Amino acid sequence: MTVTTEMPVGEIASHFPLATRVFARHNIDFCCGGGAPLQKACEKRGLDVEEILSEINKELDCTEDTTQWNEAPLTDLIEHIVSTYHTALKDELPRLEAMAVKVNAVHGEKDPERLQEIVTVFQALKNELTEHMMKEEQILFPMIANGQGAMAIGPVSVMEQEHESAGNALQRLRELTNDFTPPEGACNTWRALWHGLGALEQDTHQHIHLENNILFPRALHN
Ligand SMILES: [Fe+2]
Ligand SMILES: [Fe+2]
Repeated sequence: MTVTTEMPVGEIASHFPLATRVFARHNIDFCCGGGAPLQKACEKRGLDVEEILSEINKELDCTEDTTQWNEAPLTDLIEHIVSTYHTALKDELPRLEAMAVKVNAVHGEKDPERLQEIVTVFQALKNELTEHMMKEEQILFPMIANGQGAMAIGPVSVMEQEHESAGNALQRLRELTNDFTPPEGACNTWRALWHGLGALEQDTHQHIHLENNILFPRALHN
């Protein structure tokens, strides 16, 4: 099954949850206006449907092959981590936070303990990751790029501890969302949130893998 311009936006959102990132970026309504075909929804917002379609396909096709990063210059790897993972997280963390708060506010009474804990765990994770990326971008990555990676044992071990803590938070979110499986009858925002959290886990694992297993060891032994 592939996404087409004739497919209703709501149907795209439910079959291809990562597409909701593109909808959010361009303010395409996939909740109440979800019945409109993609073509119509784009026309309504003055967007080029072919461009939107290619953005959607890019989101759906994001699992990458990391082998090339064993050889590429470290500055290229840093640039890749920042432009692919950090930039996406800076959009995705506030977007998912707003959705979690909304689902808890609207549907909280259906599952009060878990929905509230999801908000709490997510907000702590968001704050932690935001600060973590800032430290990487402002301190550790410039050290590595300047060839001082061998002196970065201290900052690297702090980053590794923070990765572990982020991994634990994502594991807790997985438990609280029943492996990111939305309950029967959940609304589109609720579904999109569950899938968004699942995608966040997948992207963050990939992101941490590139840092822990490739960037940091290479930098320390440079
Ligand atoms: Fe990072
Ligand atoms: Fe990191």
